[in-house]
Amino acid sequence: MCGIFGVCGKVFSSSVDQCIAGLKKLEYRGYDSSGIALFDKGAIQVVKSTGKVHHLEEKISHLKSLKTVSIAHTRWATHGGVVEANAHPHVDSENSLALVHNGIIENFFEIKLQLEKKGVLFRSQTDTEVIAHLFTDLYDGDLLGTMQRLLARLDGSFAIACIHKNHPDSLIVTKRDKPLTIAKDATLGQVLVTSDRNALYGGEFLTLDLEDNQVALLDQNAIQLFERDSSKIFPNFEPFTVKDTPHFKGEYSHFMLKEIFEQPSAIRRTLEGRYDLEGNRVLLNLPKAFEETFETVSKIALIGCGTSYHAACIAAHFLEELLGISAEAYIASEYRYRESLSDATTLVIAISQSGETADTIAALREAKKRKAKVLSITNVPYSSIIRDSDFHLMTQAGQEISVCSTKAFTSQLLLLYLLSLQMYQFRNGSLPFENNWIQNLRTLPSLIESLLQRKNLIEAIAAETQGFEKILFIGRQYMYYTALESSLKLKEINYTFSLSYPAGELKHGPLALIDENTLTVALLGNRTTFHKTISNVQEIQARNGKIFAVHQKDQNLDEISPDYSFSIDAPIPEQLLPILYAVALQLYAFYSALKKGHDIDHPKNLAKSVTVE
Ligand code: F6R
Repeated sequence: MCGIFGVCGKVFSSSVDQCIAGLKKLEYRGYDSSGIALFDKGAIQVVKSTGKVHHLEEKISHLKSLKTVSIAHTRWATHGGVVEANAHPHVDSENSLALVHNGIIENFFEIKLQLEKKGVLFRSQTDTEVIAHLFTDLYDGDLLGTMQRLLARLDGSFAIACIHKNHPDSLIVTKRDKPLTIAKDATLGQVLVTSDRNALYGGEFLTLDLEDNQVALLDQNAIQLFERDSSKIFPNFEPFTVKDTPHFKGEYSHFMLKEIFEQPSAIRRTLEGRYDLEGNRVLLNLPKAFEETFETVSKIALIGCGTSYHAACIAAHFLEELLGISAEAYIASEYRYRESLSDATTLVIAISQSGETADTIAALREAKKRKAKVLSITNVPYSSIIRDSDFHLMTQAGQEISVCSTKAFTSQLLLLYLLSLQMYQFRNGSLPFENNWIQNLRTLPSLIESLLQRKNLIEAIAAETQGFEKILFIGRQYMYYTALESSLKLKEINYTFSLSYPAGELKHGPLALIDENTLTVALLGNRTTFHKTISNVQEIQARNGKIFAVHQKDQNLDEISPDYSFSIDAPIPEQLLPILYAVALQLYAFYSALKKGHDIDHPKNLAKSVTVE
C-alpha cells in the first residue's frame, strides 16, 4: 500500500526531483498523501502534503537544489485519517531523525503507552510515529545497534527507511514481511531504496531484495548488510536493467480505458510460445518437479483477493469440470484460517496481479506450513509471491497502472485455462478430443477486438442507465463469477452499491430488493442453463425491475424483451466466455464512472497493491 523511496550514496542530481519521480511511479500503491525528508543546512527538513504527489511537488520547489540523502513516502491510510500530520516521514520530538514506513506495527499501542509514560508527546495517530520515538529512545549513537534493538521490539509487518541528523550521509533500512529493494546505479554509484523496482529510473542497476529482519546501512562508501544477530553478511547483488517506460496514456483519456483496449495484445502475449498448434499440445514449460508434484495432488485450492479471486472462481470451475478433481476457490484472507483445507496432497494456486498482496502471501505461507505445494500466477516479476512459491507462471499483460484491474484479469484467466489444459495433458497424455481448446483460445484476441469496436453501444447504455442507484448482476455457473467481477468493477470506480447473485438464488431473498428503481444486469452467456436464467429474469420483470441483458448473438430474447441489451458474437465454448463478458462490462463500468466525473484511475480509498492484511 504505502510506497517508500530513498536516495543515498553519490547523489548526482536533485534529491527532490528523484524522490518525486520515484513517488509518482509508486503512487499506485496509495495516494492519500505523500512526503519527503532530506538534509538542509545540517538539519532534517520534512515536507508533507495530502492528496496526490503533484501536491507535494508544488510545495517543495525551494528545496530543489539539494543533493542529499533523502527519504520519501506515498501513503495509503491505515492508522489515522488523511491529514498532513499523519503523512510520512515521521520525526521524533527533537527532529533528530525522520523515517518512512510501509506496513502495520501490531504492538504500536502498547509501545505508545510506554513512551507516553516517559513524557513523549505524539503528534499523529499513526503507528509509524511510534517507531520514530522508539528509535530515539533506544538510540546510543550507533545507528545499526539501535535499528537491531528496534527490530526486537516491533511486532507486525514493515519496511522502514530512516535518516538521522548525526549521520547525514547514511540511510538505514530494514524490513519484515514487506518488500524493500536496494538498487545501486551501476554507472553513477548512487544508491536507491524502493518498495518496488517499478519506481527505478531507466539504467543498469545492481539490486538486492532485503530479507526479513536484515538491516542495511547505506552511505557514500558502502552498502553494509547485517543479519538480525548483527553478523555482517556479503550483499549478493544481481544485475538488473530498467527500461524506462514512461507511463503514457497515448490516445486514451484514462489508463483504465487504455488497458481495456490492450487486452487483445495482453492475451496474445500470454499465449505466445505456450502451445504447439500442430501437435495440439499446451507447452507451459513447467519444471519436471511440478509434474511429479501434480501426480500426488488430490485437491486444488485456488486463492486470491478481489479480481484475482474471481479469476480463481472461474478456473476452479473449469479445472473441476475438465479434470474431475476437487478444485475450490477461496478468498485468501479467509483461506489462511481454514487449517483443514491444505495438506501435502493439496496444490495451492495463488493468483495475484501485483504479487505483493498481503492476504495472499499470508495464505500461501500458511498452506506451505501444512506442506501444500504452491504454484503462483502473477503479472509482476520479482514479486514477493514468486519468491514464496514452489512454482510460478507469469501473465504477460504488461504493467497495469489503473487501480481497477482489467487486462491483468483476462490474462490471468487465459493462463489459468492453459494451466488447466496442461494439467489435463499431464494426466491423460493429450488434450481432450472435444472442443478444439487451443484454437478457441487463439480466437479470443480477435473476438475482443470486434467487441471493443462496438464500445459506443455500451457507452450509450451507460448513459441511459445512469440514474439507477441499485444495480444487481446475475448469472449462472461461469457467468455468475463473471457477474461478481463485473459488479466489483462498478463498485470500485462508479461507487454504486451493487450486488451479484447466482440467478437461481434470487428467489431465496434478494428478490425483495427488486423494484422499478433496480437495474439487473443479466449475464446470459451460459448455454446449458440459459432457459433457467431467462425464467429468473422474468421473475425480476414481474416485480417491475429493469433489465440489461448481455447475451450471445444467437440467443433469442423475445421472451424477456430487455430494456437494454448488448450482444456478443462468440462461437466458442461457454467456459471461455467470461473473458468476453468481462471486457464488455469493464467498458460499462468505465463509461458509467466517466459520466459521473470520477477519478477513474485512482478510485477513492483504494490502492493498486494491497500490502496490509
Ligand atoms: C479490482 C482489483 C483488486 C485486486 C485485489 C488483488 O479491480 O484490482 O480487487 O484484484 O486487490 O490484487 P492482486 O491481484 O495484486 O493480488
